[in-house]
Amino acid sequence: MLEVKNLKKSFGSRKVLKGIDLDIKKGEVLGIIGPSGCGKSTLLRCLNLLEKPSDGQIIYNDEVINENTDLGKYRQEVGMVFQQFNLFPHLTVMENITLAPVKLNILTEDEATKAAKRYLKKIDLLDKADSYPNELSGGQKQRVAICRTLVMNPKVILFDEPTSALDPEMIGEVTKLMRDIKEIDFNMTMVIVSHEMNFIKDFCTRVIFLDEGKIIEDGTPKQIFDHPNDEKLQRFLSKINTR
Ligand SMILES: Nc1ncnc2c1ncn2[C@@H]1O[C@H](COP(=O)(O)OP(=O)(O)OP(=O)(O)O)[C@@H](O)[C@H]1O
Ligand SMILES: [Mg+2]
Repeated sequence: MLEVKNLKKSFGSRKVLKGIDLDIKKGEVLGIIGPSGCGKSTLLRCLNLLEKPSDGQIIYNDEVINENTDLGKYRQEVGMVFQQFNLFPHLTVMENITLAPVKLNILTEDEATKAAKRYLKKIDLLDKADSYPNELSGGQKQRVAICRTLVMNPKVILFDEPTSALDPEMIGEVTKLMRDIKEIDFNMTMVIVSHEMNFIKDFCTRVIFLDEGKIIEDGTPKQIFDHPNDEKLQRFLSKINTR
């Protein structure tokens, strides 16, 4: 569904992604793990074309994605959720959720409002529809940000450390919503960068370990966590387990 061929990305002379090949299948829940600075965020940002790849190809449903692609439409189908939520502080929760689909003519104002209400009800935040982001907790903000992505009716959602800006007691409400997404739409394809190893291990159908801009290992959570082959992955996991 979403394919990456020999993807490279450099910032100046610094090579961050050094040739990534990856075929993400429809309905897959792909976890991406790896040490800080290995290129996880850069990979997700390239997938969403927030960064322009230096080389290689991104192919979505057999179409090459590049500067000629209608990026508004592409990002409707391949949405992204950020660590820092990226909600507009001067807009209410309702306005944050309905802005993009109305502006991009995906939904009418009325349809967008209805859809937003449906999602807000689902996550128990309907009473916050007219609140501003600074009146919400971190977990609530992230759940609103996820609703904002869902209302676009995406086929793929890219999550870049969706819980790492949250206090520990709020992590569960966000991971629960992520699990619920799969319950609502079993075909939703999800790509999740996270340091929540238990969540990755338990929820993902496939995990890749990235190190220094390359995929070092690719397998089921069981293979990656219980039977890691590569020495770098073994070291990475042992550091996490002793933290
Ligand atoms: N816009 C940029 N300009 C220059 N260098 C960048 C830019 N974005 C990322 N980098 C560099 O690319 C490397 C990979 O960064 P990236 O954010 O992808 O890592 P990461 O795996 O997401 O790390 P973390 O786990 O800390 O979020 C880092 O060395 C970073 O400094
Ligand atoms: Mg990152």
